[in-house]
Amino acid sequence: MTPRLEAAFDSPAAKSGHVRRLFATIADRYDLITRVLSYGLDGRWKRRLLTLAAVQPGESALDLASGTGDVARLLQQAGAHVVGLDVTHRMLQLARAKPAAGRLPLVWTVGDMAALPLPGRRFTLVTTSYGLRNVPDLETAIDEIVRVLAPGGRLLSLDFNRPANGTVRAAYLAYLTAVGSVLGWLLHGDSDTYRYIAASIRRYPGAEGVAVRLRQCGFVDVQIVPILFGLMTIHVARLPPAA
Ligand SMILES: C[S@@+](CC[C@H](N)C(=O)[O-])C[C@H]1O[C@@H](n2cnc3c(N)ncnc32)[C@H](O)[C@@H]1O
Repeated sequence: MTPRLEAAFDSPAAKSGHVRRLFATIADRYDLITRVLSYGLDGRWKRRLLTLAAVQPGESALDLASGTGDVARLLQQAGAHVVGLDVTHRMLQLARAKPAAGRLPLVWTVGDMAALPLPGRRFTLVTTSYGLRNVPDLETAIDEIVRVLAPGGRLLSLDFNRPANGTVRAAYLAYLTAVGSVLGWLLHGDSDTYRYIAASIRRYPGAEGVAVRLRQCGFVDVQIVPILFGLMTIHVARLPPAA
């Protein structure tokens, strides 16, 4: 890893700055790169998340790190009132430009998952895809999700896993680093751009570690749904109902 990319993980502030610059840079190519890197499977994983979410028509849903809005639109299509939140203004401009997927409103909000500009207990469902791995401090982001969820509310999070097996992990990260380097160089003239993915997974606690933190922050019934032989995962969790 280059010293520049290494420095991106020196502190929460450094990671926050790096992530903001990164997604502002790649926003216009984000949909393309996501399809290429997932071999076209990303849409299927997001639909799986929606199936697991079992959206109730009319419920209030929040999609965090919404990006260009795939999951937010699926939630709208399923009949939810949706807020799609992202820290990158350009991502939300691209999301807004896409056609509506349902009749109920979908509101786009620029904001930080670590300090949500939203009132407490406002949502019955929070989703995020490739969101939790990118925040500077996982516990802070989970605490904010807990704050805005109503009692009994659900969280569903899709992300890369950090394989527990050392050999699998090394091969997986080497593969992502190699592919990321080529794509970064071809699309942005900077091979570090998508090497960030492997670098962020290396520092991520992995599916089990995330599940532990979810429980520590108050979630119950935490499930890990493996995708692609466990290389990706969806966490499904809920808050206890009101006492
Ligand atoms: C890999 S993209 C995922 C986009 C979308 N969820 C999807 O699955 O296609 C990560 C997104 O997280 C956003 N992001 C990163 N840090 C954030 C933060 N602290 N708060 C809100 N959004 C953040 C980025 O701007 C980017 O749009």
